Amino acid sequence: MSVTTIYVCTNCRAVDDPSDIRAGARLLAALENSLIDSPLTVRLEGVECLSVCKRPCTVAFSAPGKWTYVYGDFTAETAPETILAGAALYSVAEDGLIPWKQRPDALKKGVIARLPPSVSSPLIPEQVP
Ligand code: FES
Repeated sequence: MSVTTIYVCTNCRAVDDPSDIRAGARLLAALENSLIDSPLTVRLEGVECLSVCKRPCTVAFSAPGKWTYVYGDFTAETAPETILAGAALYSVAEDGLIPWKQRPDALKKGVIARLPPSVSSPLIPEQVP
């Protein structure tokens, strides 16, 4: 089974949040803390922007051979449990498609996009410069 990566935009800023530490960075830290005692095996990776800046905080689930999902509207301090529950469902879904009825409400409401699995193609010698 391929390892799920949770990408977390560390640049997301919550509306009317004057904090020096952006909500996205706080969400990443909260997820790291939540994973310490979790049996879930996932990779966490902070990224500067997922181009969904009007839906903070934003995360994405991705794994080789699976659909990639982008979700938004998470609150840094309260979302880790929901995000990790969703990531657990994603991890066991062969193609990354989490059955709608099983998705936490925040994932149903916060879904922004899904992208098909990447198709890796070997380089064709004639096309190599
Ligand atoms: S700043 Fe978070 S998605 Fe762009």
